[in-house]
Amino acid sequence: MTHTFDLPFIDYSDPAYQNEPSVWLADKARQFRLAQSERGIEILDFQMCRNFLMDRAFGTDHANLVEKMGLPPSRALDYKRRMLLTQNRGDTRKRIRNTLSRLIGPGEAADMRGEIAHVVSQLIDGIVGKSADLKIDFADLVPAGVYCTWVDAPLSDARFVADSSETVLAIFRRDPSLTASIVAAYDRLFDYAKVQLAKRRVNMGDDFLSRLIRAQEVGDISEAELEDFAVMLIEASTDNTAHQIASVIDRLSAMPDVWQAIGKDASLAGLAVRESMRMWPRSISTSRVALVDAELDGVTIPAGTTVFASFGAAHRQPDIFEDPHRFNASRPQIPPHMNFGGGVFSCLGQFVANIEVEEAVSQLAIRFPNLTVESADREYTPMFQIISKLNVSFGERSPA
Ligand code: HEM
Repeated sequence: MTHTFDLPFIDYSDPAYQNEPSVWLADKARQFRLAQSERGIEILDFQMCRNFLMDRAFGTDHANLVEKMGLPPSRALDYKRRMLLTQNRGDTRKRIRNTLSRLIGPGEAADMRGEIAHVVSQLIDGIVGKSADLKIDFADLVPAGVYCTWVDAPLSDARFVADSSETVLAIFRRDPSLTASIVAAYDRLFDYAKVQLAKRRVNMGDDFLSRLIRAQEVGDISEAELEDFAVMLIEASTDNTAHQIASVIDRLSAMPDVWQAIGKDASLAGLAVRESMRMWPRSISTSRVALVDAELDGVTIPAGTTVFASFGAAHRQPDIFEDPHRFNASRPQIPPHMNFGGGVFSCLGQFVANIEVEEAVSQLAIRFPNLTVESADREYTPMFQIISKLNVSFGERSPA
């Protein structure tokens, strides 16, 4: 048996990682399937990542992360202890996931397409004619705006929703100097959720928030969990999607033939978005912790070890994805990318997210066939692709 300390070391602080992280990771993956890094153990092989996501020996490591970040007694800490991300397999996880799936499953997401398209179109109307930072003025506001429609809040709340989501998700940076701002952002989010719930309770309908309130009324979830859900949906739905939208615009508009083809035939957006998520996933990795002493590829993984599935590496594996560094939207759909994780911890919002990204990209491509990115701030942590600025010129507009 090999031990984890015998594994080769990969160093994410290598400046070459920032050039094109997936190419850097693919190069490591050619040399070894398993490695160690400063943050834990790294799985670089596609099939090993897939098996790992289903492996019952590994569970969520969010509780460890919360402990490492030193969250003081607060609403944020209570929420973290109760909510989905810190729950391992078992009845609580099952109940919470089932409740959420009924609200944002594939069928429910498909029914939301019209609403999502309307949010996107309103946001584009608001930026036309301006020189825009599409990350701040558009990508952030698409998922945040969709959340606002869910809770029947005005689109003008979208900035608050987007900024709060970004602040609380900074927990994944694993930097305890951010803890105070994260706790404060959760406080603001809980206050916000309470107000939205109170407004909805006196005016129930068949909308998203009313359905959530009904889940509490029939006893599927508790009162505290109802507020948790309203907060969790802000946290989970906004920031990942915003960065993914910005990334897809950035990459697809750099290939004018692809961009203009989507502008002429919006039905091409689905496959182009899927291929973009393979090549440039927002989630470069996802993590689990070993719940017991485990084994990966003949290596002993002691209980308590944090392990990362590196999608950045796995998505560029040549025996899985032919010519993996080439954008090819018509490549076989199986196997799918892992941008949304997998198994019982997989992303519940993936159906909504896909539609949001598709609508954002196709509507922009239809209205601005000559859109070009003038400058962008791109950063890659071991966990995430981050686009914090995306200045564009719209070029000549397509006739309406
Ligand atoms: C492109 C956008 C998105 C990306 C890349 C993304 C990615 C992810 C990933 C990687 C996970 C962890 C999966 C795992 O470790 O196996 C996750 C979990 C989750 N996501 Fe997403 N997500 C996105 C959008 C959304 C949206 C729009 C929602 C809600 C509407 C959402 C709700 C959730 C929830 C609730 C979880 C926790 C699932 C659990 O622990 O059972 N996500 N997401």
